[in-house]
Amino acid sequence: MISIRMALIHEASAIWSLRRAAIYKGCAGFYPDETLKIWAETPPSDQFKQTLASDCYVAIMDACIAGMGMLNLQSGKVDAMFVGPQHMGRGIGKQILTLLEKLAREQGVGKLHLDASLNAVPFYRACGFSGEQAATYQSPVSGVILDCMQMQKILS
Ligand SMILES: CC(C)(COP(=O)(O)OP(=O)(O)OC[C@H]1O[C@@H](n2cnc3c(N)ncnc32)[C@H](O)[C@@H]1OP(=O)(O)O)[C@@H](O)C(=O)NCCC(=O)NCCS
Repeated sequence: MISIRMALIHEASAIWSLRRAAIYKGCAGFYPDETLKIWAETPPSDQFKQTLASDCYVAIMDACIAGMGMLNLQSGKVDAMFVGPQHMGRGIGKQILTLLEKLAREQGVGKLHLDASLNAVPFYRACGFSGEQAATYQSPVSGVILDCMQMQKILS
């Protein structure tokens, strides 16, 4: 049984651990190991912690954080979708994204957009996102630069 709710600031360290584990498991083989290490291991910034309270949603399973996703309702940008390795492939990421879409629709956001890490492109396509534009993503926390795919979804 999963519930999805807004993240709490005191969950920052648990969220960062989940993010770290998801990067190592899900992105391995798509980026150089050293790049993944910098992306995963850089500690969270104060700005990230502040954004947690306004933009971040967590999936709770058995009283633990099983997944997360962020949505900026002003820009329509989805970010930081991560699911714990032991829970990947069980529909949690899709449930989080579906909730973010619902929240966006309720606020009159017409389009969501994101920079998909290369491993996650099939996931976003399965969730109705499209896009072929290769780009680079710079992590605001670590500064690391990753190849990515710009993707979007029109909300009807
Ligand atoms: C990408 C990620 C968030 C997806 O979450 P998830 O819970 O594993 O995905 P789900 O189980 O909800 O999958 C939803 C759909 O995407 C499909 N999908 C997911 N990953 C896929 C893959 N690698 N290849 C093909 N299809 C995939 C699933 O088959 C499913 O399709 P369906 O709805 O038609 O059955 C998660 O795997 C993850 O944290 N990856 C590492 C971190 C990362 O890359 N995050 C994205 C940063 S942009």
